[in-house]
Amino acid sequence: MRPETLKTRIFLDGGNPDETEQILGLLGFLDGQTTNPTLISKNPEARKRFDSGEKFSKEEILDFYRNVVTKISTLIPKGSISIEVYAVPTTTAPEMLKQGREMFSWIPNAHVKFPTATEGLKAATVAVKEGLRVNMTLCFTQEQAAAVYAATRGAKKGDIFVSPFIGRLDDKGENGMDVIARIIEMYRKGDGHVEVLTASVRKIDHLLCALKAGSDIVTAPFEVLKAWGEKGLPVPGPDYVYDSKGLKEVPYREIDLSKDWQQYDISHDLTVAGMERFSKDWDSLIK
Ligand code: E4P
Repeated sequence: MRPETLKTRIFLDGGNPDETEQILGLLGFLDGQTTNPTLISKNPEARKRFDSGEKFSKEEILDFYRNVVTKISTLIPKGSISIEVYAVPTTTAPEMLKQGREMFSWIPNAHVKFPTATEGLKAATVAVKEGLRVNMTLCFTQEQAAAVYAATRGAKKGDIFVSPFIGRLDDKGENGMDVIARIIEMYRKGDGHVEVLTASVRKIDHLLCALKAGSDIVTAPFEVLKAWGEKGLPVPGPDYVYDSKGLKEVPYREIDLSKDWQQYDISHDLTVAGMERFSKDWDSLIK
């Protein structure tokens, strides 16, 4: 059962509908799910096929992805399910848009994930005008989040998510949780049309800190949600202090949200590396 004091929506981060079922059973609720090419490549059925030496054609892997999200959508019909476009750093906006439109038609509750890079943002500006719901992924900085805000201005609340990846920042020695807090603070000056989805969660403390920070949504892998459920779904109170374990502080930056999205510096090496990793994992499944 959802704790009364829980304001944040809880998503599962995964590509296996069996996990969705288990987490629903354990928590008694689930507000949505995020998927990505790497998570789909880890799906047990995909692994089985891969291990037997049988790979997918490009059409088959998309059908497989569609089946997976359709199952998840049936399990969480009122939630949001994020589906990610295939993008290497050179993929153009029209290419991403074409995939995004197709993916959005798969299920009634999709958010389409585009990378927070120039072509991804270009695709998002058009997608939003066409009424697609989008989740801007691979976000690592406050400035990238400002660009997401600007590129999607006019969209209605609930239709746009931005996904800052905290675990991957931690891996580089930077305090990913700071980026969540900074973006939330910056967005307080805006109109609230972009929701912050804390992603790349690696441990229960990431989840608790995101709840304390007031993240709109947190997506967490099976093991983290399981651990949270087994602890009785704690929601941190005013006394909770996050231990960043010596990670480098990411300071707040004064950023004007009223500029055009092209005016922000959105470059980040982890965004590029993230696209490369997702596409590599996806490609590994294809003949
Ligand atoms: C969710 O939308 C992200 O794709 C996911 O949280 C990434 O997590 P990772 O950094 O552990 O791969």
